[in-house]
Amino acid sequence: MCGIVGYVGPRVAAPILLEGLRRLEYRGYDSAGLAIQATNGLEVVRSVGKLDNLSRALEGRSLLGTVGIGHTRWATHGRPSEPNAHPLVSGDVAVVHNGIIENHVALRRRLEAEGVVFKSDTDSEILAHLVHRALERGASLFEAVKATLGFLQGTYGIAVLAGRQPDRIVVAKNASPLVIGLGEGETLCGSDIPALLGHTRQMLFLEDGELAELTTGGARVETLEGQLVSRAPRRIDWSPTQAEKSGFKHFMLKEIFEQPRAVEDTLRGRIRVAAGEIEGAELGLDPAFIDNIDRVYFLACGTSYHATIAGRYWIEQLARLPAQTEIASEVRLRSPVFTPRDLVVAVSQSGETVDTLAAVRTAREAGAYVLAIANVVDSMIPRASNGALYTHAGPEIGVASTKCFTTQLVALLLLAIHLGRRRGVLDASSTASALEALMAVPSLMRRSLERSDEAYEVARRWHNARHMLFLGRGLGYPIALEGALKLKEISYAHAEGYAAGEMKHGPIALIDDEMPVVVVMPHDRHYEKTLANVQEVRARDGRVIAVVSESDQVASTLAEQVLRIPDAPELVQPLLSVIPLQLLAYYFADLKGTDVDQPRNLAKVVTVE
Ligand code: G6P
Repeated sequence: MCGIVGYVGPRVAAPILLEGLRRLEYRGYDSAGLAIQATNGLEVVRSVGKLDNLSRALEGRSLLGTVGIGHTRWATHGRPSEPNAHPLVSGDVAVVHNGIIENHVALRRRLEAEGVVFKSDTDSEILAHLVHRALERGASLFEAVKATLGFLQGTYGIAVLAGRQPDRIVVAKNASPLVIGLGEGETLCGSDIPALLGHTRQMLFLEDGELAELTTGGARVETLEGQLVSRAPRRIDWSPTQAEKSGFKHFMLKEIFEQPRAVEDTLRGRIRVAAGEIEGAELGLDPAFIDNIDRVYFLACGTSYHATIAGRYWIEQLARLPAQTEIASEVRLRSPVFTPRDLVVAVSQSGETVDTLAAVRTAREAGAYVLAIANVVDSMIPRASNGALYTHAGPEIGVASTKCFTTQLVALLLLAIHLGRRRGVLDASSTASALEALMAVPSLMRRSLERSDEAYEVARRWHNARHMLFLGRGLGYPIALEGALKLKEISYAHAEGYAAGEMKHGPIALIDDEMPVVVVMPHDRHYEKTLANVQEVRARDGRVIAVVSESDQVASTLAEQVLRIPDAPELVQPLLSVIPLQLLAYYFADLKGTDVDQPRNLAKVVTVE
């Protein structure tokens, strides 16, 4: 999730690129850079931090070139730093890249063995070197980019410049978006529409496996196989604000719908499909430590804490290790006992939450091994930890966490499978089936999202309710908690999440004919027991809304309304059952008219105690 922009035309490129990047800052903002064709070669300016730093770095420099590319970064491989900022350069070649090159380690080793010196820790730099080598052998820029793409596994949206063909940009796409803007005597490109809207509304959308050469005369598009593509541009009438949200009304809704892609990115490069193994090195965990673990101890706050409850269940089930999860702010107050044989897993989307950070420091002081699971690369908590496993969900703008939550779940499940395999609890075939279930999640999530109208109907029926109860068992329990938290955060309705087995110990007293009760009950080993809760709610005239599997025959007839999720193995059900609850909270809040993306009193990053 980074932002790309490019310009070829008669105007000075730098201000156009900078303005485009400003419109893309929501996609990433830890470093930024530009490469401009100048009379004496490429001029490259990069800086760490927000775009204002790049603006300042450009002040006083007269960059008059009319062809250039720019990038705003959200780090995945390599911390935010000037050498890791894009454009990445090799000789007279400059490249900006979105996505993840999965085989970058192998490619890098090969080039290093041939004497190529790398200047960054990114997976993207490999592109610049490969294009440069092809140019040196006499290829045109277009052919050089095409040859380079043949070596790559992974995802990319790229824009490439070369000093020896200064009148053009070559762009290509695989899974990461790339849009071409066709203006009068000028051509632009960007990872997203907002970057281009100020200049043209005629957009050509590149498809996966296509590359294009952009000049002042327009765009020539070809497939990787060399077939010419002729596709009519589309006129885009979105306002810049609409475009930032890809046409969704709120960032939160956009982020809910981004989850299949985000989960794919969390998994990318971490599973060796043929071997049915997890790429251990990608998990930020010292392999020598794994055999010594006595206990897994999770620390987190808020939504991340809910993810760790599922994490705990998975670790117990798949790795057969004692596991516990604690709210970080509470751990700080106590005298927690950590040992050097503890694997402490600190989960935080922002990587900055002050209570989690303090608890991490306490654990480190006691000699525990701390693994951070975070979305922001090189943020405080990963820096304070022994290792980090990043979720790669891209920036999350809505204060209420959605895609960060599901990608945390994926990271936790990967960790549990990895520990289970390494410790001999899981054999090759059970590992393979767990990984298969995980890999099917993105497409099942897409199917879940297609049912958003069911969540809308429930929201429409209940958005004036002042209270709502959420129940779940096993892996459904953290999802009940998360469903309640989402609802209260953004709609300000009072919502409580409870372990269904605890219903009799209190919440049952609240149930009457005005109490909507959401019961998370896909087909799992607890189904019959949860069904008994449904009967108890009905017996007290409570109104049941059941989250059930698509093939459900029983609960769906007892409930007043149902939210269906695709049938899936129990292990991955929480990744699916949370989706209708996120949507329910969203529609409920939107119908009430609250500020969904910035709910009152809440902050995205909590750096105060
Ligand atoms: C805030 C955010 C929540 C988040 C919690 C923990 O309350 O609004 O969305 O779950 O902090 O944040 P972390 O960054 O540590 O996951």
